[in-house]
Amino acid sequence: MYAIETHNLYKTFGWFLSKRKVHALNNLELKVPENVIYGFLGPNGAGKTTTIKILLGLVIPSKGHSKIFGIDTHDPDTRNHVGFLPENPKFYPYLTASDFLDFCGKIIHMDAMERSKRKDELLEKVGLTHAANQKMEGFSRGMLQRMGIAQALISDPDLIILDEPITGLDPMGRADIKRILLELREEGKTIFFSSHILSDVERMCDMVGIINHGQLIEHGSLDELRSDIGVNIHTTGVASNALMEGEKLCDYITLKNGEAIFTLTNKSDKDTVMKFISDNGGSVIRSVKLQEELEAFFLRRIQNDEKAREEEVN
Ligand SMILES: Nc1ncnc2c1ncn2[C@@H]1O[C@H](COP(=O)(O)OP(=O)(O)OP(=O)(O)O)[C@@H](O)[C@H]1O
Ligand SMILES: [Mg+2]
Repeated sequence: MYAIETHNLYKTFGWFLSKRKVHALNNLELKVPENVIYGFLGPNGAGKTTTIKILLGLVIPSKGHSKIFGIDTHDPDTRNHVGFLPENPKFYPYLTASDFLDFCGKIIHMDAMERSKRKDELLEKVGLTHAANQKMEGFSRGMLQRMGIAQALISDPDLIILDEPITGLDPMGRADIKRILLELREEGKTIFFSSHILSDVERMCDMVGIINHGQLIEHGSLDELRSDIGVNIHTTGVASNALMEGEKLCDYITLKNGEAIFTLTNKSDKDTVMKFISDNGGSVIRSVKLQEELEAFFLRRIQNDEKAREEEVN
């Protein structure tokens, strides 16, 4: 079973007779397995927020189906398993962090004892125990974002959907959110989030999906998607006076922690380098595959997709 599944999903905004229709989703087919961190990527206006709103029953699709843990999202019960952080969350500035979480617990009918326990757990999880009794009007963007994640977790949901949770945060704030999401995955949760910050996505996601013009144009694990661009061969014992000669056979050699690391591109002749290493008294410790960065992959795929669409029109 998938945590999220959409089939043949369409959403058109605009009145029936209106000439200004926006086709936000065009046959979106999405499959998110359970217990992964899934990065939902796409340019501005690609349809990410629309997809998320459909999953949460906030927008009605024009056509097609979406399911959460196998149940159609028409069924309001699906929301019992989902926590949500919207794109631009708003908070009551006059409530303290603790009161706000208490209020969120009341909405889902938690009793007083449960609420008290849960809000302490959540404040600790998001690193805001020290600010429990402070009014949220004084909170920084990073603190508010952490409160947003805390409220999304109030019901201990199995699926957490976050619309751009790391946008606008400083590197410390982003690292905090990343830590929280990784912990949630360890607890068996599924995390589905949209983002434009591809370096962070690359570091924390198990899988990504790329949406363009309302269609999923790519999805899979980072390993599957990104092209191999070379390899780092970590060696020890290669005679130091041979290294200059060795550099002619590969892209470059780096010396680090007593290792000589031979960086090869796809054009390098790996067999010749391996022979060179052993001929010069060295041995290979390990080889590490080098892959293109997610950002390079993303740009390449979007550009190719745009080109294909243009050709189709002409
Ligand atoms: N309520 C609405 N009425 C009309 N058009 C809408 C509405 N909501 C979204 N759209 C349009 O649908 C398209 C997809 O918007 P959406 O917000 O889903 O994109 P997004 O991928 O989340 O973009 P961003 O990265 O900027 O957040 C856009 O062209 C947008 O203008
Ligand atoms: Mg959006």
